[in-house]
Amino acid sequence: MNYINIQEIDSLQEWVKEAIAIKKNPLKNKALGKNKTLGMLFFNPSLRTRLSTQKAALNLGMNVMVMNFTNEGWTLEFEDGAVMNQGASEHIKEAAQVVSQYCDIIAIRAFAGLTDKEKDNAETVISGFLKYATVPIVNMESATGHPLQSLADAITMEEYKTAHRPKVVLSWAPHPKALPQAVANSFVQMMQLQDADFVITHPEGYELNPEITKDSKIEYDQNKAFENADFIYTKNWSNYKEYGKVTNSDPNWTVTAEKMKLTNNAKFMHCLPVRRNVIVADEVINSENSIVIEQANNRTYAAQLVLQKILEDGK
Ligand code: CP
Repeated sequence: MNYINIQEIDSLQEWVKEAIAIKKNPLKNKALGKNKTLGMLFFNPSLRTRLSTQKAALNLGMNVMVMNFTNEGWTLEFEDGAVMNQGASEHIKEAAQVVSQYCDIIAIRAFAGLTDKEKDNAETVISGFLKYATVPIVNMESATGHPLQSLADAITMEEYKTAHRPKVVLSWAPHPKALPQAVANSFVQMMQLQDADFVITHPEGYELNPEITKDSKIEYDQNKAFENADFIYTKNWSNYKEYGKVTNSDPNWTVTAEKMKLTNNAKFMHCLPVRRNVIVADEVINSENSIVIEQANNRTYAAQLVLQKILEDGK
């Protein structure tokens, strides 16, 4: 069993219930991972994913090895048949097989490069490991998805939802740098598994990959989208059509207290890290309605559920 995309799971509702049970008793399965090793490979930086996934593995009694490919590993070649007379020193074919001998599960973070849409959509790094590794693979944010984040988001919304069918808004917000679409993509895919009034709002031209958004509702008027919302999930992503470009940095899209007044006393969510007073005003993220810290806490239980299921599957 691998964990690559949230849409591959059998029942989101069941998984959320199981994760909440793990949260109540996180050391219950401490023996499950005894003598098993999680290898965490990072091709990009991280705070939450690294520490929460490591903590999840420790809660299950696993050993953990972490390697940063950004400055510690050999540069890998992913193309079959490549003549490796340039920068790359090692082919994924050997690297993935070798790491598989040291680890029982391999977790990988490899962001979109945002220069070559086709290459990013092909998920070169994760696909290479899936092809050549001989142990299960976990996606810790790939070019197009962040399914551990969206599972944590689903857990958080379950904990904070009220009795009625919620209105959930995914709102684009400005950012000075070009960011990948991965978090937004996985949030959309997770919401497509939920019973909710789900709306995506962003400036015209900032549409996500239509193969991911499918028939999810898009509202270009952010104020209208916010009306009566129960959850505001904010995230920047760079332009998907003009691939990887920042074509809009309009500060009017920043989530402010004024905008939150349009909502049904909505909870504010963001995957973090967040640029304060660019993505969201201090007064919103500091408010009682901000649940970003608990959202980050739930990253542990999302990761623990995934690792637990993989370990149980391999028994
Ligand atoms: N949300 C998230 O993935 O955080 P990190 O990039 O710090 O891991």
